[in-house]
Amino acid sequence: MLGGSEGSRAEYREQRVAWDQNAWRRATPFEHTKSLDHLLHSGERARVRGARLDPHRAICDVWTMQRTTHRDGGKEHWYDGAFFDLCIAPNQDAVFAAIRAGIPPGSTVLDVGCGTGRLVFQLADHCGMVQGIDPSHRNIRRAQVLHRRRGHRANISFESASLEHYLTQARETFDVGVVSYVLHEVDEGARAPMVRLLAGSVRTVILADYRVPRRRGLMDAATEVVEFLAGREHYRGFRSFVRRDGLPGLVRETGLLLHGELACSQPTAQVFHVAGLGG
Ligand SMILES: C[S@@+](CC[C@H](N)C(=O)[O-])C[C@H]1O[C@@H](n2cnc3c(N)ncnc32)[C@H](O)[C@@H]1O
Repeated sequence: MLGGSEGSRAEYREQRVAWDQNAWRRATPFEHTKSLDHLLHSGERARVRGARLDPHRAICDVWTMQRTTHRDGGKEHWYDGAFFDLCIAPNQDAVFAAIRAGIPPGSTVLDVGCGTGRLVFQLADHCGMVQGIDPSHRNIRRAQVLHRRRGHRANISFESASLEHYLTQARETFDVGVVSYVLHEVDEGARAPMVRLLAGSVRTVILADYRVPRRRGLMDAATEVVEFLAGREHYRGFRSFVRRDGLPGLVRETGLLLHGELACSQPTAQVFHVAGLGG
């Protein structure tokens, strides 16, 4: 019988193996990926109680966590939900201010990949109606909780759906479609079709994402680290986005008309105003 920390470590390893062999293989796609929320708050902690966590293993587990695909097409990352809302979304405020300035007051807006809804909330008093969509159920749940907490506003709403899924059942049309920090994580071959699809249903498309070519400096180095930590699949998307010349390359590929670039005080970001084909 093993005692002390060695016993705990062996127990932890045993539990890991059992989890890997049983749950991982048999789980539904939703169960494949454990969110950060889950790791922090669920029985997982209790299951390894008393055991010493292997930091190397833990980091590998998080990094290789892929976007989870639900049966209904929903996708999630380990950082979605409260972590995204509190630690990531607030860094985009300068970009959101640029987007807001580029939207005529009273417009109806579709925010594609709205995350936990930070931009939607910031547009609420400026726009006629704002619809936020995101395939991450965890992000949408968080946005809905925030919406309730802040006092429900009738002109904003959230739906758990990818753009592709949402537009197949689209009931409303929109003046403006916004895609902020979504395209760098989308698979290479899916980016241009996604932008074209959106452009077909709105009058104006606003694209915001990392500025390419990148400027060498501390902020770009920090971006690299953040994108790396987002996970293997995400990082692959980011690298390919940069390689393919970011938003300028994407707009060229879609053949859409670029109206211009919106001024933005965030040096690592780029915000484009593109002509839509709808409306
Ligand atoms: C980095 S977050 C950006 C959130 C927010 N727009 C912002 O600027 O902070 C990217 C979001 O895009 C969503 N996303 C990925 N593919 C999508 C798709 N095909 N349609 C809509 N949203 C998508 C992800 O679920 C994720 O929440």
